Amino acid sequence: MKRPCPALAVSLLLPALALFAAPVLRSAETAASVTIDAGQPGHAVSPLLHGIFFEDINYGADGGLYAELVQNRSFEHDEHLFGWATVSRTGADGAVSIETASPVNAKNPHYARLTVRTTGKGFGLANDGYGGIALKQAENYFVSLRARGTTPLQVVLEDETGRPLGKCQFDAPGADWKQLDATVRSSGTTAHARLVVLATAAGQADLDVVSLFPEHTWKNRRNGLRADLVQLLADLHPAFLRFPGGCIVEGKNLANRYQWKNTIGDVAERVQNWNRWQDAVSLTAPEYYQTYGLGFYEYFLLCEDIGAEPLPILNCGMSCQFQDKEFVSLDQLDPYVQDALDLIEFANGPVTSVWGAKRAAFGHPAPFNLKLLGVGNEQWGEDYFVRYPIFYKAIKAKYPDLKIVTGAGPGVDAGDFARYKLAWDKFKSGTPADIVDEHFYRSPQWFLDNATRYDTQDRNGPKIFAGEFAAHDGVAKRNSLRAALAEAAVMTGFVRNSDIVAMSSYAPLFAKAGAWQWNPDLIWFDNTRAYGSPSYYVQQLFSRNRPDVVLPTAVTAPAHSLYAVAGRDDRTGETVVMLVNPTNAPLPAAISLHGAAPGPLHGRAIVLTSASANDENTFENPTKVAPQEEEFSAPAADFARTLPANSLTVLRLKNAP
Ligand code: AHR
Repeated sequence: MKRPCPALAVSLLLPALALFAAPVLRSAETAASVTIDAGQPGHAVSPLLHGIFFEDINYGADGGLYAELVQNRSFEHDEHLFGWATVSRTGADGAVSIETASPVNAKNPHYARLTVRTTGKGFGLANDGYGGIALKQAENYFVSLRARGTTPLQVVLEDETGRPLGKCQFDAPGADWKQLDATVRSSGTTAHARLVVLATAAGQADLDVVSLFPEHTWKNRRNGLRADLVQLLADLHPAFLRFPGGCIVEGKNLANRYQWKNTIGDVAERVQNWNRWQDAVSLTAPEYYQTYGLGFYEYFLLCEDIGAEPLPILNCGMSCQFQDKEFVSLDQLDPYVQDALDLIEFANGPVTSVWGAKRAAFGHPAPFNLKLLGVGNEQWGEDYFVRYPIFYKAIKAKYPDLKIVTGAGPGVDAGDFARYKLAWDKFKSGTPADIVDEHFYRSPQWFLDNATRYDTQDRNGPKIFAGEFAAHDGVAKRNSLRAALAEAAVMTGFVRNSDIVAMSSYAPLFAKAGAWQWNPDLIWFDNTRAYGSPSYYVQQLFSRNRPDVVLPTAVTAPAHSLYAVAGRDDRTGETVVMLVNPTNAPLPAAISLHGAAPGPLHGRAIVLTSASANDENTFENPTKVAPQEEEFSAPAADFARTLPANSLTVLRLKNAP
């Protein structure tokens, strides 16, 4: 039997509570012990553990969660016909141009013009969406566009061979812009359809906001979200949703920053913006845009739908410090601060207020009950700490109960340490902060080494939000079980320290196969499929098994072989124990539940493991690494259990009836 590591045993105790004397059950067969004192409940667990962090990176929004099937529907990409191809079938003669005279509206200045001399077998434009339009047989699709001109129009949905799967006709719209809408039922299933707009007579047609949505979106909402992807989010039971980023909040430069007021109202009036992730590593994403069809109103609805507290993050007058580093001067900061105040009114204000009235007009008179707001993403340095307090003061003056999330830079140690330290020096010397957002993208070993990092955190300072974290496994940074278990290890520390670690979220959330800029990611998808990575299941297990109070837990085990936390679920009366064995060997453990009524235990054991730490999920095998649940019983409150190699085990225990 290996010798237990005394240092580890001490470090895994509940930090805010006194040590308790517990006889540790050991035997020749057990290499580790976990002793839980159910009779001495500790602090309440933060109800904001654990949430999700959404950013439009890796085609997470446009081409992903946002269910629009047409790419560049408004011809507002830099390359205005990006995603569109001219269709000139036998005998057709015409031209396509991009025009700006008398547009649909000033915020949407470009549109396409078809000038048709002879229609032949068809003249117009085709769009194949984001790598092909996925259609399902017998499902309905909503076609809509703005058009004007002298020629009747036909919209055809056709498969990759050109076979029509559905079509609709419109009379010539006339001299003024007209909204055209139709529902088309697909007669076939394909992942590679395209939408073709054809002029059916000689003449001229102007086209804009050419859109195709499935009828079946999340809650069947118009302008809705992909139901399968939202379901994966809902299944996480997230405590909050942080949105819309991430670096896109900052923008490459200030012009490129995220401005929430551009993202609400009629989609034709949402000012589009290029996505700063188009500059990132992917070679498959030459033109990556934000339509803002998924905008702030939709984000708030999504939060409501999945029971997550909204946490919007706003630009603080600084663009990305890794990119153009444009900072608005202090005498020009007011509009940015006003955006924050207006957002709070948009979310919470009465319907008689200017911004509350807009929310009501969109269909939601009830407030969204916003309680959290982030000022800046992962900004750092004096430039941040002269701007951020101006927001803090103005927001608190009007909304004293709102909790503000403050950045602490892009990392917590190594090259980022000076930035992180400066932030904390500020908080310690009077800069106000409610919740501090810390980010760590590090190796699995770093996560294991840092599982106790908050055990010694000052309990009198601001709360912590582990706002972006992911274990990066090797050079390839695969979504391996190894990475997921390292995250689980650090998350035991979040729960144990949840009197001070108030919130946590993995990052990034989504990645589209073949079109991503950053890995690893929580959820992978293509146009028809989606699956959760092993890290997804770790997040899910922690969210769904979040206890209400922490129970003091003593652990002895060989170094880096066991990470544990326990708590009580007040609703069910169960003791919840999370046990992470990140090693390649099974770990026999002696588990003792003190302070519980004597006698047999029963309950459930949920185990996440796989044959190898390298294992990942894939489209072909999406649940290769997924939790398995079984009934659990033990004859007494002291029992032995072998924790499988490379595993996270959740025990939910109760005295047997
Ligand atoms: O999650 C990816 C990026 O990592 C975020 O946009 C940013 O906040 C961090 O640098």
